[in-house]
Amino acid sequence: MKRFFLAAIRSLGVLVLAAVPTVVIASENCDLENGRSVFQSCAVCHTNDDSGRHGAVGPNLNGVLNREVGSVSDYKFSSALKKSDEKWTPEHLHAFLESPMDVYPLTRMAFGGLKNDKDRRDVICMLGE
Ligand code: HEC
Repeated sequence: MKRFFLAAIRSLGVLVLAAVPTVVIASENCDLENGRSVFQSCAVCHTNDDSGRHGAVGPNLNGVLNREVGSVSDYKFSSALKKSDEKWTPEHLHAFLESPMDVYPLTRMAFGGLKNDKDRRDVICMLGE
C-alpha cells in the first residue's frame, strides 16, 4: 500500500513538471535590435511602414498586432486568412510564426517558420512598436 502511494506521488510530480507554461511575451524583455535583424528575412516578402504599399508578395505588416487576421485592404489574402475571424494577438502570432502552415494549413505564406523562441518574441515586439 505504502509503495502504491509513493508511486502515485511520483507520477503526480511528473504530471506537474509536464505542465507547460503558456506563452508569455513580456515587452520589457524585448530586444528590438534583434527583432529588426530577424525582420530582414520577412522583408523579402513584406513591407512594414506607413507607405500603404504591400511587399513583393506579402501584405504590409504595419499595425498588424491585434488586427483582425487577413483584413488589410487591397491585399488579396488566401481564403484561409480571409475567412479567419481571429486577431493577431502576440500569442497567435507566436504560434503562426513558429510554423505558419500548422496554424493555417492553406496559407500562401511560403515560409518554414522561425524556430527560435527569442527571435519570434523579438520580431513580434518590433511589429508592435
Ligand atoms: C516567402 C514570402 C514570405 C516570407 C519570407 C514571410 N511572409 Fe508573411 N506572408 C506572406 C504571404 C504571401 C502572406 C499572405 C498569406 C495568405 O494570404 O495566406 C503573409 C502573411 C503574413 C501575416 C498575416 C498578415 C495579416 O494582415 O493577416 C503575418 C503576420 C506575416 N505574414 C508575418 C511574417 C513575418 C513576421 C515574417 C518573417 C519572420 C514573414 N511573414 C515572412 C509571405 C511571406
